[in-house]
Amino acid sequence: MAFPSAFLDELNSRNPIEDVVGQYVALTRKGSNLFGLCPFHGEKTASFSVAPEKGIYYCFGCHKGGGVINFIMEIENLSYPDAVRFLAKRAGLEVPEDGTNQSQYKKKERLWALCKESARFFNEQLRSPNAGEVRAYIAKRGLSRATVTRFGLGFAPNAWSALLDAMTAKGFTKEELYDAGLVLQNREKGTFYDRFRNRLMFPIIDVRGNVIGFGGRVMDDSTPKYLNSPETIIFNKRRNLFAMNIVKKSKQGFIILTEGYMDAIALHQYGFDCAVASLGTSLTQEHADMLSKYTNEIVLTYDGDAAGQNATQRAIPMLEKTGLRVKVLRMQGAKDPDEFLKKYGADRFKLLLEGSENQAEYRLRSLRMKFDLTTDEQKVEFAKQAAELISTYSTAVEREIYGVRAAEMAGLSPETMKLEIGKAFKRRAATEKKTQEKRDLEIAAARQPRARELRYDNVRSAMAEEGVLRMLLREPALFDRTGGLTEETFSVPMFGKVFSVWKQRHLEDLPLDLSCLAEGLSSAEMSHLTGVLQKQDAPLSDDAFDDCVRIIREEYRHAQVSDASSLRAMQESLRKKKGYGGT
Ligand code: UTP
Ligand code: MN
Repeated sequence: MAFPSAFLDELNSRNPIEDVVGQYVALTRKGSNLFGLCPFHGEKTASFSVAPEKGIYYCFGCHKGGGVINFIMEIENLSYPDAVRFLAKRAGLEVPEDGTNQSQYKKKERLWALCKESARFFNEQLRSPNAGEVRAYIAKRGLSRATVTRFGLGFAPNAWSALLDAMTAKGFTKEELYDAGLVLQNREKGTFYDRFRNRLMFPIIDVRGNVIGFGGRVMDDSTPKYLNSPETIIFNKRRNLFAMNIVKKSKQGFIILTEGYMDAIALHQYGFDCAVASLGTSLTQEHADMLSKYTNEIVLTYDGDAAGQNATQRAIPMLEKTGLRVKVLRMQGAKDPDEFLKKYGADRFKLLLEGSENQAEYRLRSLRMKFDLTTDEQKVEFAKQAAELISTYSTAVEREIYGVRAAEMAGLSPETMKLEIGKAFKRRAATEKKTQEKRDLEIAAARQPRARELRYDNVRSAMAEEGVLRMLLREPALFDRTGGLTEETFSVPMFGKVFSVWKQRHLEDLPLDLSCLAEGLSSAEMSHLTGVLQKQDAPLSDDAFDDCVRIIREEYRHAQVSDASSLRAMQESLRKKKGYGGT
């Protein structure tokens, strides 16, 4: 069966090849590719490669290769449509098997085609005789010809049906124009008219290169300054960022997040090919998740006004949650990157980037702004809150540096501040330790035997002991690998007993089972042991077994050492007491 290509695109993008292959083959990165042992032929050196950027795998040994769908067909031994269904399920996508679903994709494809044609139309209009004003405006904003081309900028003529006429002439329907958000409908007359009129047009393109919507700017001071496409079946503002289609190829290693189309565009023009803009909405978690797939570091360059600073504060935790490093850029003498670049040039901006404040400094500075430090009360309150804040900074160097800075701000001595931070740090560490201990206990409790008298003292060792017994029962030949284990090395006495009884029987070539233990164990012990032995384990392997043996021996050695050292400590303290007593 034929799947719509829009669906296959989405299927591919939601099943990155390195993730899918990574579930079958252990891969290590070398440069931009990943390598591992070929799953299709036996080999000892890794000649199987995955190229994430190209979305393909290839084995230099057996010459098998292809895309993510082929891989699943090969490894799962599935037909093409079943491999597609398999991957759709993996990515939580619905397979367009029936008519409705198919037509939804077909419709998306129509709207993408329409938006692409519209972008072409707007761009062509720049060369029309009526485009004098917009060409002047482009010049005034300092946009180069290359920039206009790269971003596909355009002009929506000052007319009610320029786009409507051009697109219907190309075979698109009015309804399709309406569904793409390109025309509006007159309520009374039911007629359609162009949404964008007399504006400089910015096509919005998704990561896969589809035009999905537009932003349009007026060329004077009228309002609204920017008009954007509404949300449509192809345009989701929460998931898309302006210029992401270009930025995904950037080699800068970080992404600059701006508030406006013009800021992102200016940055690109000045050589920073890693700038994106949100689409007149605040940053969403979906944006943050997407960004984290393309980079490890984000530089925030929101406006310096209150709204921009609020947006910054909201964005930081969302970005950090995905593991991204966040830097905040503060521009002095300009309200946004576009203005800054025009005034001071690319080199100054580069300096700004290199020195961009990490958010440790930014947070302290923001806190500072909340206080009027001319009064003593406010100073005290600021110092308290600053100490609390700085105590959350993860390195001692940061706590030291920002401690001194906070002290300066509050007019206190650095020593006093340091003391306060130290106290806050200890308080925090104590609470964190408590929660960690509580969590550990809960985890341990979940693994503990039900009967109280059988509680494990050493959960790590006990888990390994369970594993050893479970595996021995299934494969007695593993007794050959139990070197160094004796009844004493088991931390759970009952397990030690079982081990030695079984070992004896193994030597005598007798079968291992539970009944041979019935005599020596209480009924609580017996039912616990049964529970342990019938638990599902990972597949039997020498490595897994050796790991368990190693852990038991390690834990046993630790126990010996700590017993010995506490004995020594006791002897020592007794000796000292005697010594004092003697004088
Ligand atoms: P700004 O008002 O900061 O505009 O809006 P800007 O980027 O500095 O634009 P220029 O330099 O005056 O041309 C930032 C962003 O907010 C959205 C747009 O996405 C814009 O890029 N916005 C702003 C709207 O959606 N509608 C508006 O009326 C204004
Ligand atoms: Mn601006």
